[in-house]
Amino acid sequence: MSVPTAAPVDQFVDFLPLEGTDYVEFYVGNAKQAAHFYKTAFGFQSLAYAGPETGVKDKASYAVRQNKLTFVFTTALRSDHPIADHVHRHGDGVKVLALRVQDAQDAWQQTTARGGESWLAPETQSDALGKVVISGIKTYGETVHLFIERKDYTGPFLPGYRAWKSDYNPVSTGLLYVDHCVGNVGWNQMNKWVGFYETVMGFRNILSFDDNDISTEYSALMSKVMSNGNGFVKFPINEPAEGKKKSQVEEYLEFYNGEGCQHVALATADIVATVTELQSRGIEFLKVPTTYYDDLLDRVGAIDEDLAPLRELGILVDRDDEGYLLQIFTKPVEDRPTLFFEIIQRKGAKSFGKGNFKALFEAIEREQEQRGNL
Ligand code: FE2
Repeated sequence: MSVPTAAPVDQFVDFLPLEGTDYVEFYVGNAKQAAHFYKTAFGFQSLAYAGPETGVKDKASYAVRQNKLTFVFTTALRSDHPIADHVHRHGDGVKVLALRVQDAQDAWQQTTARGGESWLAPETQSDALGKVVISGIKTYGETVHLFIERKDYTGPFLPGYRAWKSDYNPVSTGLLYVDHCVGNVGWNQMNKWVGFYETVMGFRNILSFDDNDISTEYSALMSKVMSNGNGFVKFPINEPAEGKKKSQVEEYLEFYNGEGCQHVALATADIVATVTELQSRGIEFLKVPTTYYDDLLDRVGAIDEDLAPLRELGILVDRDDEGYLLQIFTKPVEDRPTLFFEIIQRKGAKSFGKGNFKALFEAIEREQEQRGNL
């Protein structure tokens, strides 16, 4: 009698191999000014532009880059454009989390065959510098994943864009790449979206936090971290949980007018230098009480960094089985209390700073209270 000893080979094949984040596109009210802000304050460089001057009549897009990070800011040029509607409903926010693939046709077929809802059927775009194949599916809220196949393209960004040369080039702040992007979803929707990332995109749930892990005196939330096969792409999903007062996720859902991207975590190899530079350029960060630092080394053990600059800048530290990480969170970067950024330096740790959740969420609640939204 033969006994099967191995699961079918298919089970181990990553049907959606991702090479990482290709770019993050934001729909905004004024793309020209947004691009200037991200250049000035975050240290991005001009990369490419598309708009009326390049034959795109209804919208304008500015692509900026810093190391492996590419952000695109897009605005509608007329009030009856769907992007104008999007900005009216949500304010400025993340529309597209674009993922680099070898085969955008296959990525679309694999995901839509598993129940993913198409946003863009595979489309080849080309110019004198080659071709790019783009396809896309919808995810939570009005957010979209595009699959970008650019192996046959040598242009600055995408066909339709021209290189954007600028005389204004603020120096880099040391931001390197997207570490993870977090989505806020509605009440009881977290497991639905966990299922979506598992079934449609072949991701795995690598970490889970319940309302005991993430709660303060007033509010709570739950979170599950989804990762693709090679770990290059990580999408934590948050949902609100019952508490005495309104949680930060509820505040987000109210002001974003639905589900959407809560924060994008940007990696650096020197968080003290990066945050010093960002603060000097006017980026505002959440502050925890200085008592956080009194017993920090008892909690996390020895670290390479001096404590004084961490305390001065408000950088948080947490340790897991594999090492430690340093992180800090900006205040929302628009007037609605919606999207913010995390700056993160990993020194072995693959986790997300669970030991900091309480101090961090209390800091967020102090801000919510000032806005009258707690
Ligand atoms: Fe994060």
